[in-house]
Amino acid sequence: MKRTYYVNLVLMILFFSLINGCKKTSKENKFGDEMTYSEEDLYRPNFHFTPKKAWMNDPNGMFFYNGYYHLYFQYHPESNVWGPMHWGHAISTDMITWTEQPIAIYPDELGTIFSGSAVVDISNSSGFGEVSNAVPIVAMYTSSKKLDEGDHWKQTQSIAYSNDEGMTFTKYDNNPVIDNNKIKDFRDPKVSWDEEHNKWVMVLAAGDKIMFYDSKDLKKWNLLSDFGQGIGEHGGVWECPDFFQLPVIGTDKSKWVLFVSINPGGPNNGSATQYFIGDFDGEKFTIDKEFEESLTKEHNYWIDFGRDNYAGVSWSNATRRDGSKLMLGWMSNWDYAQVVPTEIWRSAMTIARKVQLQKNNNGYRLLINPVEELTNYRSTKYKKENIVIKEETKIIDADAIDLASAEIQFNISNLKKTIYTFKLSNKLGDELLFGYDNTKKKFFIDRRNSGKTSFSENFANKVSTASRTSTNKNLSGTIILDKTSIELFFDNGETVMTEIFFPNSPFDKLSMESKGQEFTLGNIEIHKLTFN
Ligand code: FRU
Repeated sequence: MKRTYYVNLVLMILFFSLINGCKKTSKENKFGDEMTYSEEDLYRPNFHFTPKKAWMNDPNGMFFYNGYYHLYFQYHPESNVWGPMHWGHAISTDMITWTEQPIAIYPDELGTIFSGSAVVDISNSSGFGEVSNAVPIVAMYTSSKKLDEGDHWKQTQSIAYSNDEGMTFTKYDNNPVIDNNKIKDFRDPKVSWDEEHNKWVMVLAAGDKIMFYDSKDLKKWNLLSDFGQGIGEHGGVWECPDFFQLPVIGTDKSKWVLFVSINPGGPNNGSATQYFIGDFDGEKFTIDKEFEESLTKEHNYWIDFGRDNYAGVSWSNATRRDGSKLMLGWMSNWDYAQVVPTEIWRSAMTIARKVQLQKNNNGYRLLINPVEELTNYRSTKYKKENIVIKEETKIIDADAIDLASAEIQFNISNLKKTIYTFKLSNKLGDELLFGYDNTKKKFFIDRRNSGKTSFSENFANKVSTASRTSTNKNLSGTIILDKTSIELFFDNGETVMTEIFFPNSPFDKLSMESKGQEFTLGNIEIHKLTFN
């Protein structure tokens, strides 16, 4: 008995030191050097938000108030896989550097706390403001209750309010505010203030459609209409919608944008977020005719074509002066999120992004780019023009700039019918390929040989691609690198691709490859990003 006790004790100590003491991975590179990295060194992003420990998925309840951007998130504090959901919390003054806060909302008798949103109730329409002039923050989320051992849930919508600017929440006594007896997947309320119709509007995912509601006080909700059956991609369940108005760049018009996340059914498998452009008369969302026609021809309306940007939504109360919106997404994919090779924490968020709407000969398209705040972290800069690329040509290595936190801008003029391949690599032979294939008019990311990939057969089974929509004969792009992620913004944000990877040692060299004919990389600027 005693022996078993000691064996168990030793095993437990070993387990906890493994989890808490930063896992070490030791490996010899092909030159025989002993390479030792901890999981933290190798995989914890330098500036993308990760929880200190445990499992995270969707961003929730994002709002801006009194100088702070708030980010809540689906959080399972007890484990590094999905489980009973709470709302974790982090704050930032610029959406780049985050400080984690105590858990904001805990499960209760109505269920666990699934995704949702929060608004700044400036006029105290809810009456939740406790002291005179107080501006309450009102959160709306899905209470999700498991009914049996199978996959049977009751999903209802609840609200909670905060009188201390989002640091703590009190649940409303009369929850749920929207009950549900029939619909299996009925979740992820996103509330916003509809300036034009002077009321709160809320979108909710319900199986294969989005339901629209309105309210005057955030407590009593009226069902207005629904949208989506037979429109857009339906390879999986619809989740995490968002709905907001955007000005059309260069005009005095605006349109309504609807985001719908879908899992599975993304353009490169698994989870992804599609968008629709249309009009809203206060009751019904009608998809723009021209937009609908091009959607039926080829569905290339995704906020991101990479595999790792899901459930993204916008910040409320944070519209920029030019009318653009701000958003971020969960930088993972349900296909493999729970088995990626990190143990202390699981998942990061994408970089915060600005969303604009453009209309040109190709119709409507969102332009999505990193927020300008990121440029405040630029330090060392490397700039080069007219680099002739013959076969594999080195552009830069870690001796000049540490590629673990970098922002890169490039331009290529007069595209030839060839493949423009960038390559990030390390001395162990891991490599990440990405770029533009102008013979097929497709962007790509190839992480098949990027390091650890075998943890899931869905992770690196194929090259991700995205059709180019721009007809510009020049190509420009921004690349954001942060140890284990790449975010690509092509053609001023017309096509975006985000993917994660797990190299066995840091990528420390950037090169370009030409296949067959040589070409010139017109201009490249690399900024090291520094965070203290
Ligand atoms: C999307 C999602 C949401 C749900 C949440 C649960 O990733 O499935 O629909 O509210 O995750 O964690």
